[in-house]
Amino acid sequence: MEERKKYHWPWPDMPPEVLLKKARSVAERAYAPYSNFKVGAALLTSDGSVVLGCNVENSCYGVTFCAEMSAVAGMVSIGHLDPVAIAVAGGRSGAPCPPCGACRQVLAEFNPDMLVVLESPNKIIVMSVNELLPLSFSLTERK
Ligand code: THU
Repeated sequence: MEERKKYHWPWPDMPPEVLLKKARSVAERAYAPYSNFKVGAALLTSDGSVVLGCNVENSCYGVTFCAEMSAVAGMVSIGHLDPVAIAVAGGRSGAPCPPCGACRQVLAEFNPDMLVVLESPNKIIVMSVNELLPLSFSLTERK
């Protein structure tokens, strides 16, 4: 198997394990009566704030929103536009819960270099949004 790129984690005050633990814990509050698939997201901003989100389902399935999207909405509503990392956890315990395609695009809007932390049975996975969604769509030229 191809060796995964090693990412430098420049936020010693918020280790990836801790961010992942927060994502796991907010997943418990998810509203997912239809799928029973509870997801939590913990978003770290450049000033060290952590914004949490969970999935919120609806009888009209298509208007469900994902954990990552609710974290991004929370971040913007408290006045932050500079996420640096996001941990996502949920679904089957211990298995990675990678952001869906739509969420990848939502994350890329704010920072394509954002690091994404996922759980896995053996060790934590750290990848960038760019790696998860190469050549993401943008109306403006990316820096
Ligand atoms: N879900 C998320 O919250 N994030 C994702 O990236 C993928 C899927 C949620 C949506 C739905 O409530 C449940 O997981 C099953 O699809």
